Amino acid sequence: MKSLPTKKQWQTLRLALADWYKSAKRDLPWRRTTDPYAITVSELMLQQTQVVTVMPYYGRWLKLFPTWRSLANAEESAVIKAWEGLGYYRRARNLQALAKAVVNEGGSLPRDGEKLLALPGIGPYTAAAVGSIAFGLTLAVVDGNVMRVLTRLLALPDDISRPQTRVKLQALADQFLDQGDPATHNQAVMELGAMICLPRKPMCLICPLRNRCIGRDRAEEFPVKTRTKTVQRMETVAILRRGKRFYCEQVPIGKPWHGLWRFPDFDPARMEKDEVVAQIKYGITKYSVTMQAVTARWKPRAGPTGGYFTAEEMETLAFASPHRKLARWL
Ligand code: ADE
Repeated sequence: MKSLPTKKQWQTLRLALADWYKSAKRDLPWRRTTDPYAITVSELMLQQTQVVTVMPYYGRWLKLFPTWRSLANAEESAVIKAWEGLGYYRRARNLQALAKAVVNEGGSLPRDGEKLLALPGIGPYTAAAVGSIAFGLTLAVVDGNVMRVLTRLLALPDDISRPQTRVKLQALADQFLDQGDPATHNQAVMELGAMICLPRKPMCLICPLRNRCIGRDRAEEFPVKTRTKTVQRMETVAILRRGKRFYCEQVPIGKPWHGLWRFPDFDPARMEKDEVVAQIKYGITKYSVTMQAVTARWKPRAGPTGGYFTAEEMETLAFASPHRKLARWL
């Protein structure tokens, strides 16, 4: 790595970033609240999901579950339903587990980084984001946006999938942090990553940090990340029909999507295949999946363990996203 910024240079960068953020920041609903609960909801939703996708969910969620207590007391199925379509459902369960812990421990989040980290569902990113934005704690966030900004700014060749690199980036983010206003600073770095320092075709010409950005002429080379190869996979699901109703089942605990509803896997031991009627592609972790839907019938003596639902009834259940697509298509 070239030399790290000096204290004075960090300060120049911080000021340039703060100036930019003041005029360029988006007016987002979670930036208008000081409620730690609402801020936590937004930060959990924003992990791995883009702002435009999160927006409608955030508003709906707070109407359904306006407080820690209401979320703690909600039915798990209602919680999963409200998360339907956002993906990574573990976040929804984590959020409810967190709500239960908060309610058990007096009803509000602790204003302390270590204590935040000790709560279920809160990792270093969430502790720093919620701690700084809701309580002004001097904790620097490191997420994908921040890693991209920092590795480009310093032309850092380290592989960000390695734990040592994360440690290094956390130390750099700590140095960069504005101790006087960590809430604004953290949001400004993430905003820069979301608006200017884009993964592809970053807008270096209008970047407030361009004068001191070492990676700016080859920004797309950063961050360096060893790729996990995507693996192609085929699967076949069965459409079993009874009049206006279709057979669906709830995914049991221990399987991906557990708790969500889906069409069953086509099982030749129990079903007879008619014809392929649809094909849906989706990605999950390292897999690129082609899901084929076939109309089918139960073999004699094979029986359903799930249930039959009309289109309207299916709308009220929380479906795994590719299965929701299929349900709507039907
Ligand atoms: N991504 C996640 N949290 C964010 C925030 N508070 N501001 C901007 N981008 C974000």
